[in-house]
Parts: sequence; structure tokens; C-alpha cells
Amino acid sequence: MKPRVLRYESLPSTNTEVARLAGDGAEEGLAVVADEQTAGRGRLQRAWSSTKGAGLYFSILLQPALAPERWPLITFVAALATGDALLEASAVQTDIKWPNDLLANERKIGGILAEAIETPNGRAVVLGIGINLTNDAFPDDLVNLATSVANESERTPEREAILTSLLNALSRWYSLLHETDGPEKILAAWASRSSYATDKLVQVKNGAETLQGFTRGIENDGALRLETAQGIQLIRAGDVTSVRPAKVNV
Ligand code: BTN
Repeated sequence: MKPRVLRYESLPSTNTEVARLAGDGAEEGLAVVADEQTAGRGRLQRAWSSTKGAGLYFSILLQPALAPERWPLITFVAALATGDALLEASAVQTDIKWPNDLLANERKIGGILAEAIETPNGRAVVLGIGINLTNDAFPDDLVNLATSVANESERTPEREAILTSLLNALSRWYSLLHETDGPEKILAAWASRSSYATDKLVQVKNGAETLQGFTRGIENDGALRLETAQGIQLIRAGDVTSVRPAKVNV
């Protein structure tokens, strides 16, 4: 996969623009960056606040030559690549919250939205990545839940340096995904970088359903294993939050 980047001042959403270009026959690796998004989208139909100049708003077209069961691992590849880029370009250490939130000091610094689309060249994925460069990227009332590169790093955030690292890291992890033992290595790398992968007490909200339990690793297709009072449940969608165990006085 050879990335080719198109830059825009303003777009409704870089994911929407990549999907549009894919509909016109764009090839794998076509990437779009915008200074701002006026209708940025997040997971679970949420909006992704995208103030001008305050974030990296990036999407890329991928057409994986992979068996369908490997496609969900694209978001794992994206989380690993985003973590690499933040470390390499800004010296920010990140944690990954299942399925693919990038956290710094337990607050969200980046998010990933992968959308499957049909194109004239076959089925494809638009992989969107948003990174908060400054706190202007998100509303003030999220200050306890969100953070930014400016907040977490001694260095001034450099969007271009982060983008270059991201493109290199994405190419590396994506190419590994196509190797025979790639998925195994990707899942192992993901688990080693995520404090949420094992033995974490979490709550999972999926629509009206809320589950609580301890995380017990990741299935080969990326599902989260959760040990609840009813036994092991496989989580394929939802919002995970860490639960602080109640203090017991002895
Ligand atoms: C999430 O954590 O909910 C995912 C957020 C993904 C945001 C990025 S910003 C670039 C791309 N364009 C969008 O509209 N969304 C993604």
C-alpha cells in the first residue's frame, strides 16, 4: 500500500470524501487530510468535534487482499500505528482502550472509525483517524475525558511530523496484516500495549444492555473476552469504561 495524500482546508468529513473518491475509482492508499471537518463522525453515530487546526483529521482508502475474518483487525492495525506515531513524533505514550481508543493518562487523545464500502474496484474500507493536537479540538465539558498532544507533550504538536510517522507506521502494520502469522503478531502487539486487554474490571454498554466483568483477552477476530458473573461473553460492539474496584475496609 502506497499512500498518496490530498489536503483540504475544510471538509464535512475526511471519511466521506475518501468514500466519494473511492466511488470514482480511487486506488488503495488514497488519503485525505483536512484542517477542519464540519461534520466529523465518530463511532456509534457520534459527532467528532473537529475545530480548525486543532486536530489531525485523516482518512485512507484500504482494499485488503485478506479473508473476511481478518478485516476487523484493520482497526487494531490503526491503533498500533497511531500509538507509534504519537510516540515517535511527539514522545506521547499511549494506552489502547478496546476496541481502538487511544488514551494518554487515561484520557482520550485519538479515535478510529473504519467504515466498509462498496466501490467499482470491490469492497473496501475507509479508515479514519482523529488525533487531538490541542485542547481546542474538543468541547470544554470533555476536559476530564479527553486530552491532546499539546497537553501531554513537552513539544509543540507538529501535525506534519505526526502524519509522516502515521503513514509509515500504517504501511508497516498493514503489510504485516497480510503475512501468514501477521494477525497473531498484531493481536499480541495490541494486547501488550493495552491495559484493557486482560484482568481489567470494566463496564460495557451496548444500547440498553450494560455488562460488567473482567477482561480476559482478545479473540482472533478482535472480540473482547469479558468474564461476567454469568461466564465468558464475547463483546463485538459497545463502549468500554474502566471501573474502579470498591474500597474494602478491613
Ligand atoms: C471515535 O473514537 O469515535 C472515532 C473518531 C474518528 C474521527 C476521525 S477524524 C477523521 C475521520 N473523519 C471522520 O469523520 N471521522 C474520522
